[in-house]
Amino acid sequence: MTVQVSQHPLIRHKLALLRDAKTDPKLFRELVTEITQLLFYEASADLQTSEVTIKTPVAECQCELIWERVGVIPILRAGLGMADAVIQMLPKVTTWHLGMYRDHTTHEPVTYYNKLPEQPSIDVGFVVDPMLATGGSIIAVLDILKKWGLNKIKFMALIAAPEGVERLREAHPDIPIYLAALDSHLNENKYIVPGLGDAGDRQFGTF
Ligand code: PRP
Ligand code: URA
Repeated sequence: MTVQVSQHPLIRHKLALLRDAKTDPKLFRELVTEITQLLFYEASADLQTSEVTIKTPVAECQCELIWERVGVIPILRAGLGMADAVIQMLPKVTTWHLGMYRDHTTHEPVTYYNKLPEQPSIDVGFVVDPMLATGGSIIAVLDILKKWGLNKIKFMALIAAPEGVERLREAHPDIPIYLAALDSHLNENKYIVPGLGDAGDRQFGTF
């Protein structure tokens, strides 16, 4: 399994602002969008293109268009902002929502929304969720997507804990992970330290 932690100064800069407890939901959402787009740039580097002929106002030229059917799979609810960021970059993506929340006592994921069609209608799926903490949510989502028949999957998260990365590595060693940061550890409430707090609450103002 490859774990790519971005070293890009733009991502580091924006991540500092994102982590700041003083950052309000409006700026927080903007930063989620911007960081996700920078991560998506890195994670989408091997998307397949085919040659097309395009007529500019001046002449015909050979160009390339992405031919793979790309899907974005946000894990609700915190993944929504990241999905919007991907859609802005590649408007023809298909979005498949998966609803998953972490039980506050057990910290285990609970699935509450899944409207995937019978068969995958995409060639490659980018799963997006800002936080990879214990890994329970993403492992459950990958179990669902693989059972669905999706073969090419990538996972993009903003911040991960080493414990979650390790658990994910054991459960799904074939899935590449793209991160903006890999943090220190989980606290007793299974929150990422230093992290950024609750990514869903901070995006949607539900403190
Ligand atoms: C958060 C986060 C992940 C999950 C990560 O969602 O967005 O989905 O926790 O934790 P894990 O790796 O330990 O499973 P949360 O359950 O808070 O729901 P929300 O997106 O509705 O805020
Ligand atoms: N979910 C979050 O939103 N933040 C964490 O630190 C862990 C799980």
